Amino acid sequence: MSERLRIALTKGRLQDKSVALFEQAGLDCTPVRDPGRRLIHALPNYPLDCVLAKAPDVITYVEHGVCDLGIVGKDTILEKGGSFYEVLDLGFGACRFALAVPEGTDFYASYKARTIASKYPNVTRAFFQSKGMNVDIIKIEGSVELAPILGLADGIVDIVETGATLRANGLVPIETVAQVSARLIVNTASIKLHKNAIEDFIRRCEQAMGKETL
Ligand code: PRP
Repeated sequence: MSERLRIALTKGRLQDKSVALFEQAGLDCTPVRDPGRRLIHALPNYPLDCVLAKAPDVITYVEHGVCDLGIVGKDTILEKGGSFYEVLDLGFGACRFALAVPEGTDFYASYKARTIASKYPNVTRAFFQSKGMNVDIIKIEGSVELAPILGLADGIVDIVETGATLRANGLVPIETVAQVSARLIVNTASIKLHKNAIEDFIRRCEQAMGKETL
């Protein structure tokens, strides 16, 4: 039995933690540790090819079945959605979505429409809809903390990990929108076509998580 699986890994922070987990599971990740400009890597001692991709593309590749598996943050899953199975909370990459506002402001004080800046407009919309609040949402591509400082928004919905970026920019978190961590996702057809191989891989990840402090 050596069906090869293909997994898409989110480049950057989650990539390092994913590789650490795989190594804990006994997979030789030398090619991914030293990737150069190459974006797909066959592991030498386990039938797995690793693709390095941006977070939303991990979902796209898994949805279309060109990758059987993927590792991606719950933040991207909540924002982009899609059709796949989310089979394991890997625990690492833990942070939260929070609503943050300039220190000293009372966000809920007035009835006038509030403006929220975010890289995650869908998450933001769902959050305020659940509260029955109508807000204007402005999509920002990065460093969202700038928007309230520049007077563009009354608050932001963004990822908070240590809280240092918020503090450094005079913002305070006032509500948690959702908890976030890395998830293992599986293509809906692959889970049937490669049942044994996928089960073996999930079991190895679970065992590695049991003895890992990521
Ligand atoms: C994320 C997020 C915050 C920061 C939070 O940004 O958007 O800006 O990290 O981390 P902290 O709570 O530990 O300070 P990222 O570094 O991904 O850059 P970006 O804003 O340019 O996307």
